[in-house]
Amino acid sequence: MILNEQTVKAIRADIPKYPQRRSCILPALTHAYRQVGHLNEVVYREIADVLDLDTIQIAEAASFYTMFPKQPVGKYFIQVCHNLSCSLLGAESLVEYLLRKLDVKKGAITPDGLFTVVTVECLGSCTTAPMMQINDLFYENLTREKVDAIIDELRKKG
Ligand code: FES
Repeated sequence: MILNEQTVKAIRADIPKYPQRRSCILPALTHAYRQVGHLNEVVYREIADVLDLDTIQIAEAASFYTMFPKQPVGKYFIQVCHNLSCSLLGAESLVEYLLRKLDVKKGAITPDGLFTVVTVECLGSCTTAPMMQINDLFYENLTREKVDAIIDELRKKG
């Protein structure tokens, strides 16, 4: 078992809140992600067992959401939007800058285990482009200076 007792309990606690078991999938993925740090086939199977659904239903839902990494990532999972508004306002060069600054390839983990950078589709914050999400938080109207400050702050936190 990958999912611990607390996570399984949290998934079960959501079941009565929804009219159908399928509606519990997204919250269940969130509980699992918060515990494990990423999702994979074993996690899908375990969620399916708890919810009494097919594993494919869990996997299908998970595949739609980039906020759930499907392989291990750094402590700070940086998702940079590269969709239209962000792209027009410099997202691509921001990504290159970030990757150079952190000396890491897209999707890989920095040697200190702190950072993973990926590009994602629109995160729904187009009016504050360019933007990125780090774990649960949005960072908006980004400039290289802001990126420097954010990364410095996260490095300090460790
Ligand atoms: S295009 Fe980047 S948040 Fe929508």
